[in-house]
Amino acid sequence: MAFKSIAIGSDHAGFDLKAKLAEELRTSGYEVLDLGTKDATTSVDYPDFGKAVAEAVTSGKADGGVVVCGTGIGISIAANRVPGVRAAVCHDVTSARLCREHNDANVLALGQRLVGEVVALDCLKTFLDTEFAGDRHARRVQKLG
Ligand code: RB5
Repeated sequence: MAFKSIAIGSDHAGFDLKAKLAEELRTSGYEVLDLGTKDATTSVDYPDFGKAVAEAVTSGKADGGVVVCGTGIGISIAANRVPGVRAAVCHDVTSARLCREHNDANVLALGQRLVGEVVALDCLKTFLDTEFAGDRHARRVQKLG
């Protein structure tokens, strides 16, 4: 298993899905580092939470990360600005699988306004259970650095 501990964060638009994902992670035995936000009603800025999760991953406080905003896009851009982070926005289990196999993604980004809860939970499970395929993909991932 590539991940044992997960840092998770969202803005207000991703708060409800973040709560579900954190609950699922805890139930499944992962150590969860919840970096906020704390509610769905106070408007906050997604870059703050994308950065916090990304830095938790690169500092080693967590093995991997999950970020959620309305679309998953803004918060993934924020996370990807931290060197060493490969955040992937996923809308289905195939993208969740391939971002691990081919890209060694270490942060999963989801959009609460775009994907349903069941699909999001399936993406999470797939992301966590899929190993990086290495081989020719390792060279390409190295070039991302
Ligand atoms: C917040 O309204 C929304 O812009 C944000 O959650 C996200 O979708 C940005 O990419």
